[in-house]
Amino acid sequence: MIMDDEIYDAYREAGALAHKVLHRGKSLVKEGASILEMVEETENMVIDEGANLAFPLNVSLNESAAHDTAMPGDERVFATGDLVKVDLGVHVDGYIADTALTVDLGDHAKLVEASRAALDAAIAIVRPGITAGEIGTVIQATIEEHGYIPVANLTGHGLGHYDLHAKPTIPNIAISGGAVIEEGMAFAIEPFATTGSGRISEAARVEIYQQIAARPARLPSAKRILETARPRRGLPFSRRWVPGDKVDIGLMNLVRSGILHAFPVLNDVPGSFVSQAEHTLIVTADGCEVTTR
Ligand code: CO
Repeated sequence: MIMDDEIYDAYREAGALAHKVLHRGKSLVKEGASILEMVEETENMVIDEGANLAFPLNVSLNESAAHDTAMPGDERVFATGDLVKVDLGVHVDGYIADTALTVDLGDHAKLVEASRAALDAAIAIVRPGITAGEIGTVIQATIEEHGYIPVANLTGHGLGHYDLHAKPTIPNIAISGGAVIEEGMAFAIEPFATTGSGRISEAARVEIYQQIAARPARLPSAKRILETARPRRGLPFSRRWVPGDKVDIGLMNLVRSGILHAFPVLNDVPGSFVSQAEHTLIVTADGCEVTTR
């Protein structure tokens, strides 16, 4: 084994917990249920189990592919017809499990199956020596066989220590080459299938931020934001997690001064539907171990 046993165990522990919490969170996605309550309840399960969130629980509806979560005081409820992506990140001592599924409150069973089948097909070919491009090729082919389009500008990603977007990058479309997969790598594969354009763009609304520089802030609200951000050790946090008022002014100030990075909600075209499936895995000598299943 290339990876230290202790590190391997932390990845496994994070994965098993992420699996358990994701499926409990899934059961809270019901027509008429509060999105805010579902998100807070699911996030609290991770904390109650003694682990930590690698990022705020992402709950993204319909044409939104990712990076939405409950707003402070969010009054939205799940509605009939919604296609709900639930994406959970758990870490144990900085070792991350990242896993997602799609809950269908409408008639999108085949679209949901497209991303799930693509994920299964991708996992089945992972072993040392293949390339990230081969994984993307299998994902694209599987989604297209189901009659949908893969989202080209969202990718799976390596998972480093307190690092959510490490190498390798795992494309959702066929590319030539890409990173060569090696034993001991930990990464997430996350196919997105869509009825839309296959390219997501950034919406105006931002709920999730990440600290990228250690400079101090002067505004009181900005100081409060950095108190929320600091223990995250560079991992993303939610606007909803910051106590007190004038949070948005502080966030704007910190983004402008290069201390925070903003992750806007990511949407395909209006009226489209996007599904997602995601697992985290560790590459072994002759295949991989999925930590989140
Ligand atoms: Co991910």
